[in-house]
Parts: sequence; C-alpha cells; structure tokens
Amino acid sequence: MIRQFRKPISAGVMMLELRGVETRYGSSQVLFGVDLSVAEGQMVALLGRNGMGKSTTIRSIMGLTPPFAGTITLNGAELQHLPVYRIARLGIGLVPEGRQIFPTLTACENLTVVAANFSGRSNPYTIKRIYDIFPRLAERAQSLGSELSGGEQQMLAIGRALMTNPRLLLLDEATEGLAPLIREEIWRGLTILKERGLSVLVIDKNINNLKKIVERHFIMERGRVVWSGESVDLTEAVQKRYLGI
Ligand SMILES: Nc1ncnc2c1ncn2[C@@H]1O[C@H](COP(=O)(O)OP(=O)(O)OP(=O)(O)O)[C@@H](O)[C@H]1O
Ligand SMILES: [Mg+2]
Repeated sequence: MIRQFRKPISAGVMMLELRGVETRYGSSQVLFGVDLSVAEGQMVALLGRNGMGKSTTIRSIMGLTPPFAGTITLNGAELQHLPVYRIARLGIGLVPEGRQIFPTLTACENLTVVAANFSGRSNPYTIKRIYDIFPRLAERAQSLGSELSGGEQQMLAIGRALMTNPRLLLLDEATEGLAPLIREEIWRGLTILKERGLSVLVIDKNINNLKKIVERHFIMERGRVVWSGESVDLTEAVQKRYLGI
C-alpha cells in the first residue's frame, strides 16, 4: 500500500530550512542531523524533553554554536558559515534563553540601542509600536532593565528583537518561569505578530497555548527531529510518547 503523505501547509520555498544539521560543544556532539523548516509567515514550535537539543538548534541557526555539518538556509542563502552579526543582518531576530537584556539601560534605551531595519520594511518597528503590542512596557519605559520583572524582561527581549525588524523571530522559551497572567500577555503579543505575518520559531513547554497559535510542531529527541505535524496531530498519545506529559 502506498502511504499518503500530507502536503505541507504552505507550498513553495521554505524561508528557513535546516538539513542534516550536526552541532557539538567541544568534543560532545549534541545535534545528529536536524531537519526542519519554517515557511514564510508560519509560526512553528520546537518541542522536546529537557536536553534534547532545542536550544542548540536555535544557537546553530543564529551562528552562536555553528554546526560542523549540514546546511541552514534563509530564503536560499546559506547561513552555516556566517558570523552571528551577519545572520542577524539577514533578518533573524533572537529572544535568547535568559533574555539577556541590558540591566543598566532603561527599558526604552534597551529598545533604541538595537534599532535597525534588517529586512528593509516599509513600516519599520518603532518604540511606540512595541508599546502598542506590550502596553506594560510603556509604563516601565524609564525603569532599568534590572528593575523589571521576569515577564517584563521577556516582553522587552521580544520588543528588542522586533526593533531589528527581522523576517524570522527565534524564541527560546517564550514563557518559561513566568506567572500565568504575564504568560497570557506574551501569548497575546505573539498572536499579534502571527496575525501580522511574521515567521516565528518558538520553544515553549505550554503545549495548549502553542497548539492554538502554531501551525506546525517539530519534536526533538536526542539531537534529531523525530516527529512533526500540525496541532490536530499533536494528540495526547504523541505528547505522552515524545514529551512524557
Ligand atoms: N555549553 C554547553 N557545553 C556542553 N554541553 C552542552 C552545552 N549546552 C548544552 N549542552 C548539552 O547539550 C544537550 C542539549 O542541550 P540543549 O540546551 O540544546 O537542550 P534543550 O532541548 O534546549 O533542553 P532544555 O529543555 O532543558 O532547555 C544537553 O545534553 C546539554 O547538556
Ligand atoms: Mg533549552
């Protein structure tokens, strides 16, 4: 019997494409051939238990831990040998694990210092447009980064990435360690970005929130993508098998 494969949601060229990506830290190999793709305007989740290689995949895309094998392309341009700043300039924005905002700058300054228009948008992000997405940041505009709550820092980290006007946003742990109400604000902000057509690759553990806004999920196990599918396919059985929940 010939198996029927579902057609990809968005036909045509993938915006981001990883093929056979292998990455190591020193002599310790962590990624063993990661294949994954994000189409233009698509929101995609990267799932997996702790230590399976999700953050390393994002670090590989961004050039922070460059792969030693495989290819990573953004709209057809190979990234895997480029330094981080060139990858950023090609239009990839990162919200890193731990947020890493500037603690001694105000929230407003954190946004201004990175402002750039790497994707050449006709209507680039401004501080006001960031505040429209996360109104709480407007209230905290003059507070130092170190004075912000974890949730405010996360909004700021997302806002800072948007200020570079990326084509693709990478989010490592969108809502990790945040209070439920703040999480909702983050999900609401991400929904706005999705409606505006931004391409996003997001790591998070809140499957139910992800299922509402993400179009495609990739699950990693020991440095490989072992499952991918749409939200309807991410059944409890799949979650139990690959995520242990
Ligand atoms: N800087 C590093 N040096 C050596 N090994 C590392 C380093 N960072 C991560 N690792 C190892 O690489 C593997 C994958 O880690 P990674 O952070 O990519 O996983 P993850 O899926 O993001 O996990 P988590 O859900 O805990 O964030 C783990 O075994 C981890 O211990
Ligand atoms: Mg991680």
